[in-house]
Amino acid sequence: MERTLVFLKPDAVRRRLVGRIIARFEDKGFNILALKMVQLGQEWVRAHYAEHEGKHFYEPLVRYITGGPVVALVLEGKNAVEAVRRMLGQTFGSTAAPGTIRGDFALSDRFNAVHASADVEAVQEEIERFFRPEELCECPEDATRWIYDQSGAAPV
Ligand code: CMP
Repeated sequence: MERTLVFLKPDAVRRRLVGRIIARFEDKGFNILALKMVQLGQEWVRAHYAEHEGKHFYEPLVRYITGGPVVALVLEGKNAVEAVRRMLGQTFGSTAAPGTIRGDFALSDRFNAVHASADVEAVQEEIERFFRPEELCECPEDATRWIYDQSGAAPV
């Protein structure tokens, strides 16, 4: 089953949206394998967003993400990377579709509430930046019995 790394950004934490946003992922059927609240440092954030270095929004982005604690999660589920990105909606809160997390909880084109891994290649490295292997928990199979049809070789 696929995994993805999500973190709720400082605006979501300060605006007390943590419970409501995590509930969306639980409602959808994802398993939470790991969860922690952490204050990210400059060095960590600069490395995480290295692809944006030099862009006009890079320094404000670093200030934003280091401006308060974040809540990181590892989610597990079918097609997790794409499914979670679709739940987040477009990058900018001002244009994200209603019904998506950003569409419902953000208006800003910078303070957009949530990060999720962009592709399956990025997931493992992002998980390792937040969590040690022993911090990831197994999810019991019976917790997913009515989320997927598991009568065949692979969950459908
Ligand atoms: P995300 O796509 O999760 O990761 C990069 C972040 O940079 C993005 O969310 C926004 O928070 C921010 N960002 C991206 N593009 C812009 C932009 N044009 N102006 C301001 N902030 C941006």
